[in-house]
Amino acid sequence: MAAKLENKAAWQTEAQSKLLKVAPGPDQNDPLADEVIIKVAAVAINPSEWKMQDFSYLPLEYPHVLGSDVAGEIFKVGSGVTRFQAGDRVIGHCLGLLYGGARHGSFQAYTACREVVVAKIPDELPFDHAVVLPLGLSTSITGLFEHLALELPSVDRKSLGKTVLIWGGSSSMGSTAIQLAAASGYEVLTTASERNHAYVKSLGASEVFDYSGPGVTKELIQRLSRTDFAGVYDCIGEEHSTRACAEVLSKFGGGVLPTVLWPPNDLPANVKPVLGELNPSSTTVKSLTISAVYATNPGLVPNHVGVEIWRDFVPAALKTGTLQAKPEPKLVDGGLDGIQDAMNLQKKGVSAQKLVVKL
Ligand SMILES: NC(=O)c1ccc[n+]([C@@H]2O[C@H](COP(=O)([O-])OP(=O)(O)OC[C@H]3O[C@@H](n4cnc5c(N)ncnc54)[C@H](OP(=O)(O)O)[C@@H]3O)[C@@H](O)[C@H]2O)c1
Repeated sequence: MAAKLENKAAWQTEAQSKLLKVAPGPDQNDPLADEVIIKVAAVAINPSEWKMQDFSYLPLEYPHVLGSDVAGEIFKVGSGVTRFQAGDRVIGHCLGLLYGGARHGSFQAYTACREVVVAKIPDELPFDHAVVLPLGLSTSITGLFEHLALELPSVDRKSLGKTVLIWGGSSSMGSTAIQLAAASGYEVLTTASERNHAYVKSLGASEVFDYSGPGVTKELIQRLSRTDFAGVYDCIGEEHSTRACAEVLSKFGGGVLPTVLWPPNDLPANVKPVLGELNPSSTTVKSLTISAVYATNPGLVPNHVGVEIWRDFVPAALKTGTLQAKPEPKLVDGGLDGIQDAMNLQKKGVSAQKLVVKL
């Protein structure tokens, strides 16, 4: 009989505690049928983690294990899993904020992940690079392919002759969104600080606009009026970005505006914002950007758009280089003990970088 797995985790012991506690972790010996257990090699840090510490914006049971992004080796698979086996190198999107509780947070030595949001990575791609991708993938998949209903990405991209605007291309969410939209064959316009213009072009954007410029919205509208406009995705979700995106969209007849955070409630009447995280007027989760992967019902049933992209496109695109592990990782030392420091650093702000901790 296999030895019992000993786990260790960086626990969020109670709501709004600002200090993770490293202690024995959740029992990961018995994965459910559709789960894999990943031996964690690296985790990436997202704003959602320090925001949970600051605002408790989702109702969680404590103690909890935070963390969405994981890279590592498959340790064990559930009885229904056929795509993976022990030893496979993978990335995964841990869904602990929404599903599965502490077992499904990435900030632990062994984590559980639903197999539909796991993908194999090439041998030559280091874990501490690959780990920047998972949450960006699930979020962009929803914004672009569910809410905007864009054509799905492919490793044999063909130009569609249509243009999308990705607001905030140098952010972690924007970096993935640019790559996915470009892989679908769209021309991508984006916004970023000048220091990141070369970076976002390297991801597939054809033109970049400095978002701090006073006339940026006007410039974008002028430029987009010469294109077959396919939509805009707000990867920043702040008042300024959402208003600017809404103004652009409104000029082109309005429609759905996916945004990663709560939109202001006085946008132009012809713009229908699709909420990023949860409806602030309700205590229940209403519309999540990862809903293309999981419909927002209590069982989080997989939706085919996200499942297909995670299953087919991601591993193939990582092999061909159509999908790059971006933004660049910036390593924070300390293993599980270093995660709180990394969360504090992420709160101070990053630019075209993702903080990563190796375990
Ligand atoms: N709803 C969801 O499920 C979900 C999932 C993931 C993330 N989020 C949210 O999405 C947001 C972005 O997350 P992230 O991890 O991508 O953030 P991030 O990488 O930490 O964001 C930093 C980047 O944002 C850019 N930026 C800041 N303000 C901007 C503006 N007004 N216009 C354009 N770019 C701007 C900066 O660009 P420059 O350095 O070029 O200036 C910088 O590169 C966060 O608020 C996060 O909480 C939501």
